[in-house]
Parts: sequence; C-alpha cells; structure tokens
Amino acid sequence: MTLTFDAHPRSSLIVALDFDSLTSAVKFAKQVADLVGMFKIGNQLFTAAGPAAVKEVAALGTGIFLDLKFHDIPNTVAGAVLSSAAMSGVQLVNVHALGGHAMLEAAVQAISAGVPMGADRPRLLAVTILTSMDQKTMKEVGIGGTPKLRVVKLAELAKKAGVDGVVASVEEAKAIRKVCGRDFLIVTPGVRSKSSAVEPQSEDQARKATPTEAIRAGADFLVVGRPILAASDPRAAAQAIVDEIAAAK
Ligand code: C5P
Repeated sequence: MTLTFDAHPRSSLIVALDFDSLTSAVKFAKQVADLVGMFKIGNQLFTAAGPAAVKEVAALGTGIFLDLKFHDIPNTVAGAVLSSAAMSGVQLVNVHALGGHAMLEAAVQAISAGVPMGADRPRLLAVTILTSMDQKTMKEVGIGGTPKLRVVKLAELAKKAGVDGVVASVEEAKAIRKVCGRDFLIVTPGVRSKSSAVEPQSEDQARKATPTEAIRAGADFLVVGRPILAASDPRAAAQAIVDEIAAAK
C-alpha cells in the first residue's frame, strides 16, 4: 500500500501504540483507527514485535510514525533510517537532534534513498529535548540553558541539515514556528486534556499542554499515548481529543 504524506490530514491525532505485544496493540488500534491520522510505533512495541508491527498496523490503513529516535554515529543512523523508510506505510521517522549536524545530514540523505521509485518518501523529524526533561534534568546530563533556548537551537540545527521537522513540547512550538517557518513540521507529545486519564504518580511528562494549546501554538500533529490508552473508554477519549483539535483549528 502506498500512502502519500499529508501535512493536513483528516486527523492531526497520532496515537502512540505503547504496548508490549502486537496482539494487544492491533486489538487496541482497531478500536480507534478511523479517528487517528497515524499510529506511532515506538521502542516498546518495535523491540517486542519488530517490522511485523509496522506491517500489521499499516494494514489498518493509517500511516505510521516510526518513533525509534535513532542516535548513533552517522553511518549507523543512515542505515537505520534507510531500513525504516523502506517499510511500507511509514510516514514519519525520527532521530535525535543531539546527534549533531553530520548525523542529521546522513539521515536526510538516507530517508530518500530507501524509498521505492515513484513512492512518496517519509518525512524525517528530529527529537529536540525529550518532553520528560526539564532544566534540572538537562543540567544533570550537562546540557545548559533553558529547555526553550536549547530546543529552538536544536530545531534550527535540524532545519539547516535538511530535516523536515521536529518533535518538541507545546511550550516551544511557537518559538520554533517563528524561527523555522510555516512548512517545518512540528509534532508535539506531552498532550493532556483537562480530564486526562494519566495518574499523577505515573506522570513523567514535565512539559505538558492541552490539545487546544498545542494547536494554537502551531503544532501540525499531536502525539497522545496514555490519556487514550489508559482511558476507561479509549474511543471516547480519542474522539474528545479529535473534537478539541477541530474546535481549536
Ligand atoms: O503517554 P504519553 O501521552 O505521555 O505518550 C507520549 C508518547 O510520545 C510516548 O510514546 C513517548 O515515547 C513519545 N515521545 C515523547 N517525547 C518526545 C518524543 C516522543 O513523549 N520528545
């Protein structure tokens, strides 16, 4: 199946399939597939099920954000991006901007090289600073400055290398949009509705915002995991977010 990347899809909601088995992920995905723009397959599911996860979820007809956040030497990242881009249904792939200019450039070249002739290439995103990190945790690992300053600098670095967009928190989205322009994709995780289903004790997102705030800040896509996965009625939770996005646009 060939999917063409659409920056303005019927739904800007990306649901994170953070499951440890493909059977549970597919069972869940079927409940909400018609409401989402893409499903996100991250390290948990991909480590458990491998490329079969991409194949089975893509068969539901939605695009896939393959969120494996590559961060390695340029040659290794290029190989990983090439393999990701060759998987049918993959529309978004990401690497860590902290890998530096040479690594980002290698990823940019690889994202087009792996695509079959005539097919649309996936878009490449750079993770700036994880939304679970705040200034204190950044300092712990030797990253100075405020999250906002660092995220905007990393977004600029990614753009210069030819990357299509970034994963960043809503707090930084406005500043990124201003610096990187309208066509640069902004994907925001850390999205929590006012009635979010995430228990305070298991909340690890340091920089959070509502779907309305995300759209108003300029986000193109919103990544939501636990507020939908852990909801007593996941379909209703997804629908409420889709409605909130539509109202904010
Ligand atoms: O459950 P929750 O809504 O916090 O899930 C957010 C998803 O987005 C997770 O799958 C997480 O890995 C991912 N993500 C993130 N921050 C980034 C990049 C991806 O939270 N910078």
